[in-house]
Amino acid sequence: MNTVIAVDGTAASGKGTLAKKLAAHFGFYHLDSGSLYRLAALGVIDAGGDPNNEADAVKAARVIDPSKTDDVRLRSAEIGKAASLVSVFPPVRAALLDYQRAFAGRKPGAVIDGRDIGTVVCPDATAKLFVDATPEVRAHRRWLELKSYGQAPDEAQIFKEICERDERDTNRAISPQKPAADAALLDTSQLGIDAAFAAALALVQPKIEALRARPRG
Ligand code: DC
Repeated sequence: MNTVIAVDGTAASGKGTLAKKLAAHFGFYHLDSGSLYRLAALGVIDAGGDPNNEADAVKAARVIDPSKTDDVRLRSAEIGKAASLVSVFPPVRAALLDYQRAFAGRKPGAVIDGRDIGTVVCPDATAKLFVDATPEVRAHRRWLELKSYGQAPDEAQIFKEICERDERDTNRAISPQKPAADAALLDTSQLGIDAAFAAALALVQPKIEALRARPRG
């Protein structure tokens, strides 16, 4: 089995940054699975469709181009919300599953961040983290992030949207946002990036070493 690190967590919890840093540390590939849902959402919007409409969402999800995940339009609050809306439809999730599982097979290893990586996409992942922080801290981080993209965000509005997103992502019927039973929980509310990374590494490293120490065959 390939070495896979699943980094699930809430919106703006820092999971993406941690996943990227873990990938760099171990020399693994990194996939931000949320960007796949965002690409599907952007496809719906660009086609003049409705993210609440299952047929529109499925059509867009089936034709996403995962090489386009650096499109800055994916990072807007509007697309984040639309991604959360399209992600509730089972055929949308199914359309994105093969790509994620194939990515998990990339050697020498893969780090994938998202909502259901440890529970559904890679239930046999080598190491699983579930990253969270208070909604206030997450709203502030998202506000800083959007500002860095040249946008003029309203922090109170972002806080409201984060709470709505938590509600929808946690309560959807299929693949809800929740820690896998064997995930290590990491609350980054009080931690800066370096401290959060050190904490994540301390949780993940023993699992990677245990896999490496296991006899092959
Ligand atoms: O992590 P993000 O904010 O880029 O994710 C955007 C939305 O995509 C999120 O609100 C729910 C959905 N998503 C999902 O359902 N499953 C994933 N593995 C990743 C994201």
